[in-house]
Amino acid sequence: MMIVGWAHGLAFVSIFVIGCWALKDMGAPNFSCSDMSPSAQIPTSVHALKPADIKIVAALGDSLTAANGAGAPREDAVAILLQYRGLAFQGGGDKGLDGHITVPNILRKFNPTIFGYANGVSASDVWEKAHLNLGFPGAESGDLVGQARQLVQLMQTHSEVNVQDDWKLINIFIGGNDVCAECKDTLNNATGPHSAIQFGKNLRDTIQILYDHLPRTLISLTGMFNMKMLRMVDNGQIFCQGLHVFECPCESDKGFTDQQISDVCEGYMKAEQDIQDQGIFEKDDFSFVIQPFFEDDIIPPELANGKIDLDFFAADCFHFSQFGHAAVSKYLWNNLMQPIGQKNRKANLSNYELDMVCPDPNCPFIRTTKNSKDCTQFFKPTKLY
Ligand SMILES: *[C@@H]1O[C@H](CO)[C@@H](O)[C@H](O)[C@H]1NC(C)=O
Ligand SMILES: *[C@@H]1O[C@H](CO)[C@@H](O)[C@H](O)[C@H]1NC(C)=O
Ligand SMILES: *[C@@H]1O[C@H](CO)[C@@H](O)[C@H](O)[C@H]1NC(C)=O
Repeated sequence: MMIVGWAHGLAFVSIFVIGCWALKDMGAPNFSCSDMSPSAQIPTSVHALKPADIKIVAALGDSLTAANGAGAPREDAVAILLQYRGLAFQGGGDKGLDGHITVPNILRKFNPTIFGYANGVSASDVWEKAHLNLGFPGAESGDLVGQARQLVQLMQTHSEVNVQDDWKLINIFIGGNDVCAECKDTLNNATGPHSAIQFGKNLRDTIQILYDHLPRTLISLTGMFNMKMLRMVDNGQIFCQGLHVFECPCESDKGFTDQQISDVCEGYMKAEQDIQDQGIFEKDDFSFVIQPFFEDDIIPPELANGKIDLDFFAADCFHFSQFGHAAVSKYLWNNLMQPIGQKNRKANLSNYELDMVCPDPNCPFIRTTKNSKDCTQFFKPTKLY
């Protein structure tokens, strides 16, 4: 508590001092699609969800979902402790799409009354600001079960959510902190607490809770990323290296090779893929889809001179800045619109010009396992008489 209070004070001072500098951000004021309407009737199948059918958006995860440090100037390393969850790519709603790209801000263009995104700076338990963005810093996959229980409880007790009728999109991104601890597992074998097996079990336990309690739900999992990239960013950034020793011990542990980090991350990706492939969380009104844009080796955000673009990152060179969150949001959105098998798996984070796609007129739904295979059974074009 002490440290948090102190950090608040310091952050305000530095924002005041640096207040005349505008922190870089990216909006999409001109984003529009030819059809942004909801289905004629509320769909009963999760495979027939148009973006405008989503009424509730929620997010589970770690500091990248809490958007730690995202709204602070790069000079302000202490503000990494602040949770700018309103800026978060999967769960924030600050500024609207004109000023800042997030997946909820894009969805608001389709359904202006969508509920659940966070606003402003707060911890995950401040309902008035966090709403249903429940990610918190330091969360490992083992903490997601608690977040899932909290989400169910919030949805069941707040009148903004009609649990039975409203379609819900739940965005999940987890794994970074698991990797940061994996090299310290004393039982560093196939069944250790940060092994891929345990990671997969934690994820299944989490989704099981949502599956058991939440009808009309689509789970969108942002696939694990290969944390080798973090070391590329660190190269030559002494200041960042120092912070990472504290934030991510295994990333800084030179005894833990790039190959080992990569293997752990790929093990988690495989565990995620198994959940989708085995179809264990499938019913008419519930499904699970991986958005894999981070999965193949990411092209890091670089400037024309080949140097890492630090505008993409918050002060610790690890968390995303608000600009970074906006850039990542475009990749996540496009993945939601792309059918399985054709989803972009390799984000080029140097490409800030990436166009956001619109729903495919021939299959205008958020893409799922089933509508990616065959959309015709879900798509009945309205006839013009
Ligand atoms: C949006 O469209 C307007 C009018 O066509 C144009 O002047 C403006 O530059 C566009 N803004 C962006 C960010 O593309
Ligand atoms: C991992 O280590 C624990 C403790 O030594 C042991 O009980 C377990 O069988 C090991 N698992 C594997 C897969 O080697
Ligand atoms: C990534 O995007 C940048 C900026 O558009 C471009 O210059 C670069 O060639 C791209 N890299 C790859 C590998 O496509």
